[in-house]
Amino acid sequence: MIDPNQTRSDVMMFGALGDLAQRKLFPALYQLERSGLLDQGSRILAIARNRMETAEARARVEETLREHVPPDEIDSGLITHFLQRIDYLFLDFTDAESYSALNAWRGETSSHQIVYMATPPAMYGVIARNLKGVGCCTDKTRVVVEKPIGHDLASSVVINDELAEVFREDQLFRIDHYLGKETVQNLIALRFANNLFASQWDQNHISHVEITVAESVGIEGRWGYFDKAGQIRDMIQNHLLQLLCLIAMDPPSDLSADSIRDEKVKVLKALRKITPELMDSHVVRGQYTAGTSLGKPVPGYLEEEGANRGSATETFVALKVEIENWRWSGVPFYIRTGKRLPEKLSQIIIHFKPAPHYIFDPDQKHLANNKLIIRLQPDEGMSLKILTKDQGLDKGMRLRQGPLELTFSETFDTDRIPDAYERLLWEVMKGKQYLFVRRDEVEHAWQWVDRVIRNWKDSGESPKRYAAGTWGPVASIAMITRDARSWYEDA
Ligand code: BG6
Repeated sequence: MIDPNQTRSDVMMFGALGDLAQRKLFPALYQLERSGLLDQGSRILAIARNRMETAEARARVEETLREHVPPDEIDSGLITHFLQRIDYLFLDFTDAESYSALNAWRGETSSHQIVYMATPPAMYGVIARNLKGVGCCTDKTRVVVEKPIGHDLASSVVINDELAEVFREDQLFRIDHYLGKETVQNLIALRFANNLFASQWDQNHISHVEITVAESVGIEGRWGYFDKAGQIRDMIQNHLLQLLCLIAMDPPSDLSADSIRDEKVKVLKALRKITPELMDSHVVRGQYTAGTSLGKPVPGYLEEEGANRGSATETFVALKVEIENWRWSGVPFYIRTGKRLPEKLSQIIIHFKPAPHYIFDPDQKHLANNKLIIRLQPDEGMSLKILTKDQGLDKGMRLRQGPLELTFSETFDTDRIPDAYERLLWEVMKGKQYLFVRRDEVEHAWQWVDRVIRNWKDSGESPKRYAAGTWGPVASIAMITRDARSWYEDA
């Protein structure tokens, strides 16, 4: 059992009026309150660059909770109690002297100090230095930072260096919110608690792996940010590569943060470099045009609000990733992610090799490989496709593929699956780092992704078009078809 007194925290939230704080962080903190996990002595200092009083800031948070928390999880009494924890501080993040107000707020206390930088990354170094300048952090302070950590390797090194001037690595909690998702953590349980899978998890038994992270939404008013990033920086460099690492890593010797992260780094180091010669066969980038999303007509990327009509930024990426080590040699990982795809769906499919000698009806040979489908969202669960005999006297030894199904919400009677931010904030309060990204992971991921971006630039090619509401450019289907395979939905 966690001793609640050990998690008593003073959360200093920079950027508290921003989108992330309002849409994700306050609702997550409220949910921790609902679950009884927030220590009675925990407090929140909302810090932002707007002049306002605490009462007004609390009213804002209340509004945001009523908007973002499902109605049946709203408890007015609890909201009032939660709001009492919040104070507001107007602060110009660049004004070093005004940081002394933070010391005044904190006073003498034994609570953990958590600094959450829900700000643009350019501010991380400034905030860190100013906190240090007024002596408002100790060697126990925990600092949470969000992606993107830079927009390439060089800029991420600058940000990480600035943070490292003030904080040790074991004080830094770099968020990749995919690591807070229930099913993503379950990958660790699935792989390392079930010897059944552990013994099959390599190139002897697996033919290939698919990872799809699809979104039906478009750019949603974030055009300015997104256009500078593109799908490869926004999703591949972090979420997709993290998923790939969890699938591909070797078993860690224990569950400690560094044991897990050491293994992930080994995978990142073993990724085959995508050279210019490999671009045609291994990389597809796309950009959506007008189409239909969930039954409604929607504009193309270049017609979105605030769009620059000449942009060549990608909203879709498909990659064939190879891992150069003994476990995965010859096993491609096909990964794809995009905006304005037909549905919101994240899933991983492990395709097992067929049995070494096939003795059934030759017409059915294409059925003869097991698949493990891991659904991250929605309907979190897993499904193992196995082959059985079709029932009935007239069926002979006809085969049939059916699922062994595990849908978490049905099997385990869970009333709700916590949002990733709830889990991540809770882990910060406990001081556990295993769901956070270490500096070398970020940097190795950038190094690999930078090369792809450089190749794109050098080739001068525009992204391939795909209509909103479809599964991306035809070239992404061709990429996998060339290897005599297909994306799972298309099978
Ligand atoms: C964020 C990206 O990190 O993840 C967004 O910046 C994306 O562009 C989002 O929409 C997807 O997260 P989720 O949890 O909705 O799959």
